[in-house]
Amino acid sequence: MPDRLAPRPLPRRDWLGLAGFWSAGLAILGSIAGMAQLPKPRVTPEASSKVRIGNPSEFMPGSEKILSQNNLRVVSTSQGIAAMSLACTHLGCIVQPSQDGYICPCHGSEFDPNGNVTGGPAPRPLKWIQVSQAADGELIVDMAVEVQAGQFYQIV
Ligand code: FES
Repeated sequence: MPDRLAPRPLPRRDWLGLAGFWSAGLAILGSIAGMAQLPKPRVTPEASSKVRIGNPSEFMPGSEKILSQNNLRVVSTSQGIAAMSLACTHLGCIVQPSQDGYICPCHGSEFDPNGNVTGGPAPRPLKWIQVSQAADGELIVDMAVEVQAGQFYQIV
């Protein structure tokens, strides 16, 4: 006589039914979780290429500054203000001032004071970059806008 309290084995047909039920439930939950992610943006905003470098009064005519935090050389003359990138055009290392201009510590490219290549593997001169003035008067360098070498900007 079978014991009423002893567990009975689950019939195979019932087990398959339960497995199907739980699989369908998990698939529905996964779909809902996926749909909940849809309104969220998948891209993060790109950092601006524009860099504020200070007020014009910090760049008196006849002066030259290396802004190491931005890897820039800023030159101020009576013609205006110009900025040159210090990123080597070979593989992007930051060039260092040398006796004859600039030298790259990575593979030895050499540049004259205006950024023209005088030696090494660098394929192009150092980039000169656009300078402008914000509405509040501060100078802005747009790292994404390359200009002709030696282009100075009149700042008021
Ligand atoms: S990165 Fe400057 S020479 Fe290679």
